[in-house]
Amino acid sequence: SRVVALVPAAGQGVRLGESMPKAFVPVGGSPMLTLAIDGLIASGVVDHIVIMTPAELVGEAQGLLAGHLGSACPVPVGVVPGGTERTDSVRAGIAAAPQASHFLVHDAARALTPPTLIARVVAELRAGHSAVVPGLPVTDTIKSVDAQGDVTGTPDRAGLRAIQTPQGFEADLLRRAYAAGLQATDDAALVEAFGARVRVIPGEPMAFKITTPLDLHLARTLLAERDE
Ligand code: CTP
Ligand code: MG
Repeated sequence: SRVVALVPAAGQGVRLGESMPKAFVPVGGSPMLTLAIDGLIASGVVDHIVIMTPAELVGEAQGLLAGHLGSACPVPVGVVPGGTERTDSVRAGIAAAPQASHFLVHDAARALTPPTLIARVVAELRAGHSAVVPGLPVTDTIKSVDAQGDVTGTPDRAGLRAIQTPQGFEADLLRRAYAAGLQATDDAALVEAFGARVRVIPGEPMAFKITTPLDLHLARTLLAERDE
């Protein structure tokens, strides 16, 4: 079996507000993209990695990952152009990996994800689950609102999870879910829309997504402490 990790890294990082696309922003001296790839390799459960970057930065990413692209690297790494929306980027990655038996889809922006979480997701796939996502209990109360900002509901927090990546799938299930042509903010939503069961396993606080300047500050501080 072949576990292929697809790494969406083609976003602009509008909410982060740095001068370059988010995956190329350095954290502790290395771009987020490089940290995410190192975590996937360190997990020991990934056979191949495909990264999706902005089209004009494919060459830049290949340069950053030069040490990973050669035959000396235990895990082959490729870079392909992503698309306008995250869903388009993942679709491009799926097309570049026809050999996959399982996919892991893992945001470059979750640069500090522990390799042990990646290994736990793959272990659940190997145990026979066809769709596996990590999630954490939410700590804020979540409300739905209408266009005017008036509250329309307060779901019971105990039944909610904040979902992370890597998200793991049987390859044919993810291929079929993407063939429907829908858009979503995560991959599991497309599989759910397809009617498949998605299993949630405990996530990791360190798998948080670097989205805002506060997140970037936290990530840089955590890496600086780790490297002390
Ligand atoms: N992503 C992608 N292709 C896109 C949009 C997003 O590959 N067209 C990737 C991002 O690079 C990121 C992950 O999907 O690794 C999660 O998306 P998000 O955190 O929203 O990143 P950005 O879209 O870059 O940020 P923003 O929405 O603030 O612009
Ligand atoms: Mg985005």
